[in-house]
Amino acid sequence: MSELEQQQESRQEACTPGSIALDSLGDWARTHDCNTLNAQEVGQTVILMGWVQRRRDHGGLIFVDLRDREGLTQVVFDPQFDAAAHEHAHCLRSEFVIAVRGKVRLRPDGMTNPKLRTGEIEVIVSELKVLNSSKTPPFQIEDEVDVNENVRLKFRYLDLRRPGLYANLLLRHRTAQLTRGYFNERGFIEVETPVLTRSTPEGARDYLVPSRVNPGRFYALPQSPQLFKQLLMVSGFERYYQIVKCFRDEDLRADRQPEFTQIDLEMSFIREEGIYELIEGWVVKVFRELLGRELTPPFPQMPYSQAMEQYGSDRPDTRFGLPLVNLTDIVSSSEFRVFRQAIERGGMVKAIRIPGGVSLSRKELDDLIDYVKIFGAQGMAWIKVQSDGWQSPIAKFLQEDVRGRMIERMGIEEGDCLLFVADQPKVVNDSLGNLRVRLGQQLKLVDPSHYNFLWVTHFPLLEWDHEEKRYTSVHHPFTAPLEEDLEFLEERPERVRSRAYDLVLNGIEVGGGSIRIHRQDVQQRIFNALGIGPDEAREKFGFLLEALQFGAPPHGGIAFGLDRLTMLLSGSSSIRDVIAFPKTQKATCLMTGAPSEPDIRQLLELCVKVEAERRS
Ligand code: AMO
Ligand code: AMP
Repeated sequence: MSELEQQQESRQEACTPGSIALDSLGDWARTHDCNTLNAQEVGQTVILMGWVQRRRDHGGLIFVDLRDREGLTQVVFDPQFDAAAHEHAHCLRSEFVIAVRGKVRLRPDGMTNPKLRTGEIEVIVSELKVLNSSKTPPFQIEDEVDVNENVRLKFRYLDLRRPGLYANLLLRHRTAQLTRGYFNERGFIEVETPVLTRSTPEGARDYLVPSRVNPGRFYALPQSPQLFKQLLMVSGFERYYQIVKCFRDEDLRADRQPEFTQIDLEMSFIREEGIYELIEGWVVKVFRELLGRELTPPFPQMPYSQAMEQYGSDRPDTRFGLPLVNLTDIVSSSEFRVFRQAIERGGMVKAIRIPGGVSLSRKELDDLIDYVKIFGAQGMAWIKVQSDGWQSPIAKFLQEDVRGRMIERMGIEEGDCLLFVADQPKVVNDSLGNLRVRLGQQLKLVDPSHYNFLWVTHFPLLEWDHEEKRYTSVHHPFTAPLEEDLEFLEERPERVRSRAYDLVLNGIEVGGGSIRIHRQDVQQRIFNALGIGPDEAREKFGFLLEALQFGAPPHGGIAFGLDRLTMLLSGSSSIRDVIAFPKTQKATCLMTGAPSEPDIRQLLELCVKVEAERRS
């Protein structure tokens, strides 16, 4: 072994965690972060601290990219400048924690890096302190590195070192601060509501927590602070807000987590217009200050019925066209059996017109047909409008007069492709509504730089639940009905519209709320319509019904998903990327191993008998 090789080997051994001599901070204090220094500081002696992003050996010189949360600075170890520091630097590896003292100097000509804010300079080191070593990380700490998400979640504390995730959490922090500032200035006060509470009906399953001191009884974690914020209005607080954790045991998707954060607020003596104006002011401020974007309020409003009719969805993405067109009346007289039968069974027929869609291949059409089947459609008919006529398996069933009326209603032109689904309204809207969104992406009709806000208003108050065979609330049972519709409540409940509203951004529901019922008699009538009898109502919501009898003011409010909002602001595709320690699709935490099996003694103490027996 040559002398050089021997030297390298002994250095290698000295670098392993455990064997390395660690320095203490001593009296050193950081003078700058790693994203600050430039030509102005040339000649200054500085102290930087951070992590080794990368070490490069170059003919005697050692270069280290030093990283902290703010950015990178190149530091140089030169044996000519300081032999001891240079020798010491041989032990550095990725993610070691170090402090350096040195002088800022300009990088030599041609060596500047315009991509870095500190790319003009480097720090030539006179003293190095190794504050901690690091095992080789399971992945490179860089945004571009493609790592399996499960590995990222298991080592989340390392994942969070990546600049992109840090930037997302910083954006989240600034959104929360700005939100607090905005509502504070307008007389809202932040009040904390209980986490150990009773079931708060928002439509999902509850997370239950057994009570040790009340054996056999359980708290529910709040799905939202809904009832408490209404009670604060009864208490005369007038303007409440809270940035608050909510818990819902539901099937998870890219924009759902079992615990998530709401920006929750409630106001007294307010109507819909007041809420819209307040929220638009907040959204405008968020977008201006955090993204530098000017939005122009008031945001458009669309009744639920129109959203369903034209977009097949209660959260339409209005950045592109492709509206759904109802053809039920026209095709009911056609000779196409599938259409006629669907209509005879109380269904409908809707279609989407794709301008230029004749170029869709047979395979592409088949893929679209498979796609609508996910949403329950039995099939999807299509027509290509060619120069020599309508090409379609169903063209022969459509008489001249039917074609004429379709052309008129849909504005059909040569080159179009028409897609039809016939079924019950829910299936037609679900399948064509989702198909529309998919086509928007596939055909690149969506401009990702657009932010289209939309208030969806006048949701139905109730909907029929086929499984439970009773009406359930579309929003929640405390939502006020439109006064003019209240007379239908007992006879035709599905006709009653509510005073609920959602704020939708680019096809995603970011917030929802309503004007509430503030009269006990009306609340009781709604419970009756929901099949909740007086005894059950008293048992579950007695405290609310009682409170409504002690001078409850008219009130209303709204709640936003902070996670979803930050996801949209940061351009992330999953809310996991804006939550510090998120859960997987199966509601587990890969880092801590939660949920875990409790100790048998804990179970016995909690009187959770079944589980205790199974495990003993
Ligand atoms: P809602 O149930 O519409 O209303 O919830 C309000 C907002 O919270 C967000 N959100 C979620 N975000 C992430 N993961 C989830 N699992 C999740 N569920 C909901 C959405 C949604 O718009 N108490 C009422 C509000 C009110 O009436 O004032 C409520 O909770 O962005
Ligand atoms: P069929 O009579 O089942 O061979 O279907 C004839 C055409 O109608 C095919 O192109 C099917 O994809 C389409 N089709 C079948 N069911 C439906 C439906 N519910 N809505 C729209 N088109 C359908």
